[in-house]
Amino acid sequence: MENCNAELYDFEPRASSVLREVLAGLSQNPKTLSPKFLYDKRGSEIFEEICKLEEYYPTRAEEEILKDYASEISSLISEDALIIEPGSGSGEKIRFLIPHLKKPTGYVPVEISKSILLRMTEELHQQFPELNVHPVCMDFTKDFDIPDALKSAKHKVVFFPGSTIGNFTPEESMSLLRGFGRVLTKGDGLLIGVDLKKDAEILEHAYDDREGVTAGFNLNLLNRLNREISAEFNICNFQHQARYNKELGRVEMHLVSKLSQIVRVHETIFRFQEGETIHTENSYKYSENEFITLAGRARYKFRQLWKNRKKQFCVYYFEKD
Ligand code: TRP
Repeated sequence: MENCNAELYDFEPRASSVLREVLAGLSQNPKTLSPKFLYDKRGSEIFEEICKLEEYYPTRAEEEILKDYASEISSLISEDALIIEPGSGSGEKIRFLIPHLKKPTGYVPVEISKSILLRMTEELHQQFPELNVHPVCMDFTKDFDIPDALKSAKHKVVFFPGSTIGNFTPEESMSLLRGFGRVLTKGDGLLIGVDLKKDAEILEHAYDDREGVTAGFNLNLLNRLNREISAEFNICNFQHQARYNKELGRVEMHLVSKLSQIVRVHETIFRFQEGETIHTENSYKYSENEFITLAGRARYKFRQLWKNRKKQFCVYYFEKD
């Protein structure tokens, strides 16, 4: 963090809590693993590759919106606002808005991967030397909060792009949005990007590309568990699968066991039947009305929305009620 005026607030999850959650998830029937474990250093790098794929339209669509409507969006955000971004990753998207914001007090990237967080803080500092960046290393799905010194900012906006909200069930999404609401006051903003419902075929290709980058992203999860919590997954024995569940309005990502096998994770043995899956992630898709209703139930008042030209993706601005 040399050359960088930012102090890191470090609440990085410990390996022991990863192990506990992984064992609990694999003990369920059907087996599941939380998508947040996909984002170690390598996973975050592969994810950046996914965003550039031809089939993966959401990133391009959202960036088009942020670029085309940057000044309109920024006009809804009060002067002196503190922008808080849970799951900021490499912080590509906030860069579209920064030049249009009126004297922002600061930017708070909240990210579970410390190495990605430190790199992006440094990069932002280079690109926008005037901007105060306050990096927070934290699992934003757990008791979301920011340090008191930052919470006292007069105006705050939570920026939650990338349809990350879609990676939670509607119930979880509501409690997540309520959690974000705890750092906001009435009238503060929520600027959130959410993918729209569309044809199953387009969706399934977006989450299972020809080059196998997304497959590598999903499988990296097992590599990571092998490295970090002494699991013994044989990666070759699992296969990536993406399928659109129309009834539930979500793309499901699974790791399918290619054969009947036994896998040791730390001191526990797990059995897999041939074809049995570990459910690693969902990506829920929402129509405009569905999402506005969900946010309303989490006490946010709808102000405005923007779509890209092909109408694939939607960015919403809400006010905390
Ligand atoms: N949140 C985004 C989405 O649901 C990005 C994402 C999360 C993703 N996990 C993924 C993209 C796995 C591809 C594969 O689309």
